[in-house]
Amino acid sequence: MRVLTGIQSSGTLHIGNYFGAIKPMLELQKESELFMFIANYHALTSLKDAKALKQNTIDAAVTFLALGIDPAKTTFWAQSHVKEVLELYWILSSFTPMGLLERAHSYKDKVAKGIGANHALFSYPVLMAADILLYDAEVVPVGKDQIQHVEITRDIALKFNNEHGDIFTLPTFKVDENVATVPGTDGAKMSKSYGNTIDLFTTEKKLKKQVGSIVSDSTPIEEPKEYEGCNIFEMSKLFLSPHELEELKARYKRGGEGHGHFKMYLKDKIWEHFAQAREKKAYYDTHQDEVMQILDDGAQKAQKIAAEKMKMIRDAVGII
Ligand code: ADP
Ligand code: TRP
Repeated sequence: MRVLTGIQSSGTLHIGNYFGAIKPMLELQKESELFMFIANYHALTSLKDAKALKQNTIDAAVTFLALGIDPAKTTFWAQSHVKEVLELYWILSSFTPMGLLERAHSYKDKVAKGIGANHALFSYPVLMAADILLYDAEVVPVGKDQIQHVEITRDIALKFNNEHGDIFTLPTFKVDENVATVPGTDGAKMSKSYGNTIDLFTTEKKLKKQVGSIVSDSTPIEEPKEYEGCNIFEMSKLFLSPHELEELKARYKRGGEGHGHFKMYLKDKIWEHFAQAREKKAYYDTHQDEVMQILDDGAQKAQKIAAEKMKMIRDAVGII
């Protein structure tokens, strides 16, 4: 089964992004043929600072390699390295009714947020359709906000296939319903827009500060404490083994320790959990030529498939 997904680097990642989106994606690498690219042409629709766009693209590659993308198993590249996608984007544009794009929530939301409505933002789903259809992807893992884009892809593919025969594979989206929402330091959904995050790659000092800011009640140290509904405990569940969790419950019930102790314990667990990824990140951060080489190799593999597919598509529509 061919699984494909694109990622837009959105700056500093937090543990909600990790458990909610990245970890499930990495799991797919074990069981399927995974294609994964950094959607830097898409990022250009909203990011006009050249230096930042370049840096974000490399940072996204470093981050995903550090967290476990294995280039030996997964085809991993930067969208802009396989130019065929832009040619397909144009061809698909001729099979995309305006109404289909006018109904896109994501476009309407971005405009409502004040992001300048340029043409690329409007036709964003067509480029996304090209990303998917060029590689005959069967399954596209996405967050809920991207479901409609995969549906638009299917609509475009159907319209094309109706006129030219079975050229495109119809993709289906996959939303992981099992992943729970990770709470932030204030107990609400962790989100970069709420300022309640615990960051994935940060210094131990900052991590200590972020974990220290988790809201907890003020039961006196000597008294037993309730772990059920405690924000520290909820977050600890993500990092502790079942045995460690039982031990922590007992510590809550025993009394004699304050929430500060539980926070320090959680901080240590988070620090340990990402130790290997942090080391890998430090390595790739200082070996960016290696990162570029990995992306290049990935692009070559992807390009081979893309070139074959484009021949078929050009022929179908009559482009010489
Ligand atoms: P943010 O809310 O911080 O802006 P994004 O919207 O960029 O995060 O989310 C990127 C991905 O991470 C999405 O797939 C989203 O579902 C996932 N995600 C974000 N926050 C959480 C959370 N608190 N719990 C679980 N998954 C999350
Ligand atoms: N639009 C996606 C997002 O913002 C990124 C993306 C671009 C993508 N092309 C794709 C995702 C193709 C899946 C398949 O998250």
